[in-house]
Amino acid sequence: MLQIKPLHPSLGAEISGIDLSKPADDATRDALSRALAEHLALVFHDQSLTPEQYLAASELFGPPIRQHYSQHLMPGYPDIGLVWHRNGQRPAERWHTDHTNRERPPAATMLYGVEIPPAGGGTSVANMRAAYEALAVDERARLATMRTVNSLDDDHTDTRAEDREKYGKPIMDPMVRTHPVHGSRAVYFHITKAMCIEGMTPEASKVYMQDLLERMIEPGIVYHHAWRKGDVLMIDDRATMHRAHGDYDRSQSRMLWRIIVEGDRPALL
Ligand SMILES: [Fe+2]
Repeated sequence: MLQIKPLHPSLGAEISGIDLSKPADDATRDALSRALAEHLALVFHDQSLTPEQYLAASELFGPPIRQHYSQHLMPGYPDIGLVWHRNGQRPAERWHTDHTNRERPPAATMLYGVEIPPAGGGTSVANMRAAYEALAVDERARLATMRTVNSLDDDHTDTRAEDREKYGKPIMDPMVRTHPVHGSRAVYFHITKAMCIEGMTPEASKVYMQDLLERMIEPGIVYHHAWRKGDVLMIDDRATMHRAHGDYDRSQSRMLWRIIVEGDRPALL
C-alpha cells in the first residue's frame, strides 16, 4: 500500500510502502504518476538499488533519455548520469529545469543518493505552477506569447564536440508549459540553455529571465531536500525548477545517480 505524506505546503511528498527494486503493477504506476503530477517532487527513503533495478524503476514514469554530457555517464550504463564533483562536475546552483534543448524534453528527473556528505549538498525544488499563478494577469498573458531558443548550456567549457554535434541544434520551447497529467500551467525556461527569447537580444533575454527568477522563486514555493543515503528524489520537470547546493566539504564525496525520463513536446494548451 502506497502512503503519501506531504512534506511542504506547496510541493513535495514522501512516498512509503514501496520498494523500488521490485516490479510494480499498473495500479501502482498510475498512482505514482498522479502523485508526481500533484506533488511535483516525490521522496522515497531507504532504497537499495543496482543500476539495473534503478533503470527498471524509472520506467514506471517513462523511457529514459540519453543525457548529453557524455563524460558524466556511468560506465556500462549510458542512461544513468553521475552527478559527482570528483568527475569534474560543478554543482548546478542556478535555478533551472533539465534538458530543455530536446524535442521531447524531460517529464521528470530522478536522483538516487549513493554517496552523501555529512552536511550541506541539498537539492531545492521550486513549484513553477504556483509561480505562474502568482504572476499578474498581464504578465501571464505576455509570457504565454513568448518562446525560448534552447541549446547546450552557454556556461560549460568542457562539452565534447560529438555531444555538441548531437545536441546543439536549436529547440524552441514555450515559456508556459501545460502539464499533460495535471492540466496546470507553469513557467518554463532554462536560463543557461535558452540562448535567447524569440525576438529579443540574448542580453535582454537573460535580464528578463533573471528578473523572473528573482521575483518568482520565494521560500513559500520551495521544498528543500536534505539528502540521506538511499533516498530517491523524483522531480517533475514540467512544472518545477531545481538547483543544487554546493555548500558541502569538497573533500567528501557527493554522488547522485541521475536518470532523466522523456516527456511530451512542451505546449501551452
Ligand atoms: Fe538539473
